[in-house]
Amino acid sequence: MAIHRLLYRSDMHLAGTAAGIRQQVAEIVRISEARNAADGLTGALLHTRGVFIQVLEGPLPAVEATFERICCDLRHRRVELIELVEAEERVFGEWLMGQISADQTIERLVSCLPTGEDQIPEAVSAQATIQLMRTLLVSAPTQAASSRQMLDTS
Ligand SMILES: Cc1cc2nc3c(=O)[nH]c(=O)nc-3n(C[C@H](O)[C@H](O)[C@H](O)COP(=O)(O)O)c2cc1C
Repeated sequence: MAIHRLLYRSDMHLAGTAAGIRQQVAEIVRISEARNAADGLTGALLHTRGVFIQVLEGPLPAVEATFERICCDLRHRRVELIELVEAEERVFGEWLMGQISADQTIERLVSCLPTGEDQIPEAVSAQATIQLMRTLLVSAPTQAASSRQMLDTS
């Protein structure tokens, strides 16, 4: 069965110390994992420099319903849909919601990602972002371990 994959970015709207913010993001991921398991969704959430970038993938109705809830969530602002495409298979099939936390390496990598200003097609930029997120999850297995869970690949 075909699945859909959605990519968006938003401005984080969380108050508190760095540790407090880490805790709040961990709570978002905990709730997301439980909901996504029930909805057949997988994906990844990257947060760095006050920005969230998230991929959601699964059946279209579940992707849309979840994105609608996410858009209403006051823990972030200026939610911008980057891409919603049909896909042959999941990129994040092993993660109910793989969490990628800010660190300097990731910040450097994210700042290297092509942006709209570079005048490259949006699809290329979206693909580069998604591949980078997957690479970061695979290369940080301990951090991602709690989120790693096999779903069937439909
Ligand atoms: C950055 C961010 C990412 C989120 N990702 C998900 C997600 O992947 N799945 C999900 O069900 N909820 C996610 N949420 C939480 C939803 O916005 C919402 O709070 C949650 O689904 C519970 O909704 P409900 O209280 O209407 O049941 C996310 C929230 C934020 C701020």
